[in-house]
This record gives sequence, C-alpha cells and structure tokens, in this order.
Amino acid sequence: MILAGAGGAALFVATHVGNAAGGVPALGGPFTLTAADGTTVTDRTYRGKWLVLYFGYTYCPDVCPTTLNAIAGALGKLGPSAEKLQALFITVDPRRDTPKVMGDYVRSFGHGIIGLTGSPDEIAAVAKEYDVYVAPHPEEGASYSVDHSSLIYLVDPKGKFAKLISGGLPPDRIAQQLHQIIGQSS
Ligand code: NI
Repeated sequence: MILAGAGGAALFVATHVGNAAGGVPALGGPFTLTAADGTTVTDRTYRGKWLVLYFGYTYCPDVCPTTLNAIAGALGKLGPSAEKLQALFITVDPRRDTPKVMGDYVRSFGHGIIGLTGSPDEIAAVAKEYDVYVAPHPEEGASYSVDHSSLIYLVDPKGKFAKLISGGLPPDRIAQQLHQIIGQSS
C-alpha cells in the first residue's frame, strides 16, 4: 500500500499549520547526501537552481516510476525554462539504494534527474525536514516494500521551500504548477 498525495498533504497540514508563515509551511533545511559517483552533495550544491525534490525508492513497483516519469515529462514540457530547475530523487530506502543503484535508476527517466542516497541517519534527517512519511516492511523479506508519502517539493534558488505539488498529477499539470512559480522569477 502506498499513501496517496492527498493523505500526505493532510498529514503535512496537520503537523505544519502552526509553523506556517505567509502561507508557506516551514519545510526543508540543510542536507548532506551522496550522488551516484560517490561524491558528497549538500543543499548548497544546487543553489541558484530551483529544486524539484521527490522522495521514494527504486524498488517501488508503481508510484515512484510513475511520478518520476511525470516529473521528467513536466521538465520536457517546460522547454528552456527547465534549465532553471534541478530534479532530485532522494531514496527512503538507503539499505538497497546504493549510489550506483540510484544512478542507474534515474538515468532511465532522463531530463537530468539526479539520484541521491546517504547513510540511514542522513536519509532520516532529510525525510524528517520534509515531513516525509516512510514505513518499511522488512517482514516481507528481501523484496520488502516501503510505504511512503508521494509529494513533490519545490525549493527556490536560495534553498527556501516554496511549494508543494501533488505527486499524482499528470506531466502537464506539474509543468503548469512549476511554470506558475518559476515564470515569476527571472
Ligand atoms: Ni514509491
């Protein structure tokens, strides 16, 4: 079972409504993770670009590949504006998602999506900052599933969380929502 975007959004509103300032909830923060080639990256690595963050795992049977395809499709629809954006896929399953596994996986979606993993502590820290729901099912054995919320987070070029986008949207709707915010910035 995978939580749909709506459930995650409700959970998110319940836990963050008290922190909201100017309508934008207090999400995000610094992170330290590992790219496919083994280099360390942090939130500062991508300053100057809008970040499109999505959390999931490569063994995900349905929601993650669908959402990553939708993100890639949205970036394609944005045309040259897509250069202002960097999509990051951050694993919630660091045990199986090694840097190489993540790199091989994101390559199939194209559009420069970068796959990031880290130590269990590093992943737990970034998931907590973004209020990501993660529930692994180790009782299922080696091919265990991981329930996770499915939301897309837009972070501005200065590293500040800007907008939440439902993960269940088709590419054109995601492109529209990205364009709404990116289009206003130079
Ligand atoms: Ni998934």
